[in-house]
Amino acid sequence: MNFDEIIDRRGTGSTKWDRMQAYGGVSPGDGLAMWVADMDFRAADVLQDAVRDLVERANYGYFTGDGEMNAAVAWWMKERHGWDADPAHMCSTAGLGHAIALILETYTDPGDEVIIFTPVYHEFTHKIELADRVVHESPLVIRDGVYHMDLDALEAGLTGRERMMLISSPHNPAGRIWTPAELRALSELCARHDLLMVADEIHHDLVFPGQTFTSFLNAAPEAADRCFMLTAASKTFNTAGARVGTVTIPNPELRKRFRRALLVHQTQPNLLGVELTRAAYSPGGAAWVDDLVAYLDGNHRLFLDGMAQIPGLKAMPMQSTYLAWVGFEGTGMEMTEVLRRVHEEARLVPSGGAEFGSGGEAFLRFNLGTPRARVAEAVERMQAAFADLQ
Ligand SMILES: Cc1ncc(COP(=O)(O)O)c(C=O)c1O
Repeated sequence: MNFDEIIDRRGTGSTKWDRMQAYGGVSPGDGLAMWVADMDFRAADVLQDAVRDLVERANYGYFTGDGEMNAAVAWWMKERHGWDADPAHMCSTAGLGHAIALILETYTDPGDEVIIFTPVYHEFTHKIELADRVVHESPLVIRDGVYHMDLDALEAGLTGRERMMLISSPHNPAGRIWTPAELRALSELCARHDLLMVADEIHHDLVFPGQTFTSFLNAAPEAADRCFMLTAASKTFNTAGARVGTVTIPNPELRKRFRRALLVHQTQPNLLGVELTRAAYSPGGAAWVDDLVAYLDGNHRLFLDGMAQIPGLKAMPMQSTYLAWVGFEGTGMEMTEVLRRVHEEARLVPSGGAEFGSGGEAFLRFNLGTPRARVAEAVERMQAAFADLQ
């Protein structure tokens, strides 16, 4: 697999490239899109083969056949993460944003509080607020240069109106992998306060060499009855446009209610997404991911080294993902000035950290899921835009 190949995605309807001007005010003509969490690489051969088979079938009628995909999901979870997921417990959604919205609607009421650990994937907040539920932020603290949860502070500040906890594991942004002990502590807190747990593990495959990811239910099997496990091939294999996610719900009562919600919303599995996911979760897909992770690790190191050469900037070392998190507090600049330099001088469009909630205000998130030459170019442009700090 040649991850160095540059594919021009401009003019294809790509959110990342074709909306970068609307989002960051930088033209895709000379700008680099480093915001939306998708990758610029050519799809794995196993995916291309699956699409060719689908085209050969030459029929795109109503589709409910996610059984083979669920078996492949179970195989992948066991093979890659040591987690025994039962295909009979799986429900297909139109992606995980959709899954979160349905879960909020089905198991909480307007005014209920949902705990999230900020800064975190901005859609957590959007989905909670759009559903008229209340965000209960538990700010992460930086210790030894990486994020930690502060569960004592969280527990001391509970209002009694919390119904649910929603975690990103690994964490977006910055790719922190929660340890088994941390996950168990979350499970215990949920049990003490009778909270449902939504474990969004969409980033679990992009784990750098030497790091180990633990699935929530492996760390805390006792939480099975209160837990929703969210997984998808879409970050790992870059298939987000095909809108499929899997929600695994071990508790039969909770599962029944979720299946009803899917019916209410006429949600049937997306044919293309199912075929891509089934093909991805295979030995050929696994080999592609191993190569991808090694490549992303190289991008990550290059970026970290490059940022370390700019006084005042702090890129958080990542354990997983391609979503680098850079702090600008040490520059002493207002974020409006930082953004002016990043957009107007460097011609880069990262994600604004404030969108990720409390604690994100002085950060920008840079997507490194792109050919290395582009990462190198971004580093050079950042060094030039902040050259006066040298
Ligand atoms: C933690 C997390 N969950 C969910 C999603 C999006 O999932 P989907 O595209 O399936 O809605 C993202 C996208 O970046 C994410 O970071």
